[in-house]
Amino acid sequence: MSAVKEFKLSQYQSELEKIIRNYEEDEFSLLEVLHEAQELVGYLPKEVQKIIADELQVAPGKVSSVISFYNHFSDSPKGEYQVAICKGTACYVKGSKEIIEKIEEKYGISSGETTEDGKLSLEVVRCLGACGLSPVMTVNGKAHGLLNPEKATKIIDKYLNNEMKEV
Ligand code: FES
Repeated sequence: MSAVKEFKLSQYQSELEKIIRNYEEDEFSLLEVLHEAQELVGYLPKEVQKIIADELQVAPGKVSSVISFYNHFSDSPKGEYQVAICKGTACYVKGSKEIIEKIEEKYGISSGETTEDGKLSLEVVRCLGACGLSPVMTVNGKAHGLLNPEKATKIIDKYLNNEMKEV
């Protein structure tokens, strides 16, 4: 049984409808509504997508394709610790591929996934804007650079063991 918190639509429904009412009923409002809905819920589960599609009168397939197109949106819950690892050119040539493989192997998750206990999620992203420190990852937005596979997993373990102070 996964420890990731169950999503309860009733908890968010009225707030969600309030958000949608602020926008025109068309697909041009979709990005903004999705953004606000994700701020509210933390991610965009199918039930939320359905309400948005119905209320804005947009095809459900359109909603899910927008979500998968933009890295910013997620249809699954994120972990307590969110690792984003860069696969941009500078990081790639300095070995980010090996780091990603090590993380995937050690924690059993791929990009876009969260561990069963809800602690860790992984996202592979484009340039994080810190190429001078490549290869780079962020954990909950905090950058860690000049990584190798061992260093990266050591840092992640520290977060998981509450030995890493978040700033
Ligand atoms: S390519 Fe990785 S931070 Fe720029």
